[in-house]
Amino acid sequence: MDLQINEYKFGERPTVTRPNMEFLQFLGEDGIRAMVSRHYDLMRQSPIKKLFPSEDAEFEKAKLRSSDFMIQILGGPEHYNRNQGQPLLAKRHRPFTITYPGRTVWLTCYKQALLETNAPEHLIESFWDYINVFSIWMVNIPDK
Ligand code: HEM
Repeated sequence: MDLQINEYKFGERPTVTRPNMEFLQFLGEDGIRAMVSRHYDLMRQSPIKKLFPSEDAEFEKAKLRSSDFMIQILGGPEHYNRNQGQPLLAKRHRPFTITYPGRTVWLTCYKQALLETNAPEHLIESFWDYINVFSIWMVNIPDK
C-alpha cells in the first residue's frame, strides 16, 4: 500500500476529494469512532500531545468532535453540523500551532490507526488521500 505524505508550499489549498463512503459502511459509526479514538490515543503519546487537552474528560470530548466530523464527511449523519455547526476546519485550527512536522506526526499516527482497522486496501487508500491532502489546509506556521 502506498501511503506517502504529500509535500506542499505554505498556504497552498489543494483540492480535496471526499473519501470513499464505503469505508463507513465497512466499519460502521462505532468502527470510525474506535479508529479516531486510537488516533487520538497515539497522538497523546507523540511529540504533539501538548496541542490536545490534558484532562481526560476534555480529551474524550475532542475525540467525539473529531469522530462526529469523520462520520459526516464519509456520508453518514451530520453529527458534526448538529453539535458544532459549520466545520470551517482551517479556521477552527487557527488557535493552535500547527507546523509541518506537526502535520507529519498527525498523519503518521493516523496511518497506524487506519492500518489497524484492517479495512480493504482501496478504502484505506481513499481515506488516506483525503487526510493527506486536507491536512495541509490546517498548517498555519510556515517554517518547514
Ligand atoms: C495537520 C494536522 C492536524 C493537527 C496537528 C490537528 C490538530 C488539532 C487540534 C489541536 C485540535 C483541537 C483539539 C480539540 O478539539 O480540543 C483539532 C480539532 C479538530 N480537528 Fe484537527 N488537526 C489536524 C488536521 C485535521 C484534519 C485533516 C482534520 C479533518 C479531516 C481535522 C479535524 C478536526 C476536527 C473535526 C476537530 C474538532 C474541531 C472542533 O469542533 O473544535 N484535523 N485538531
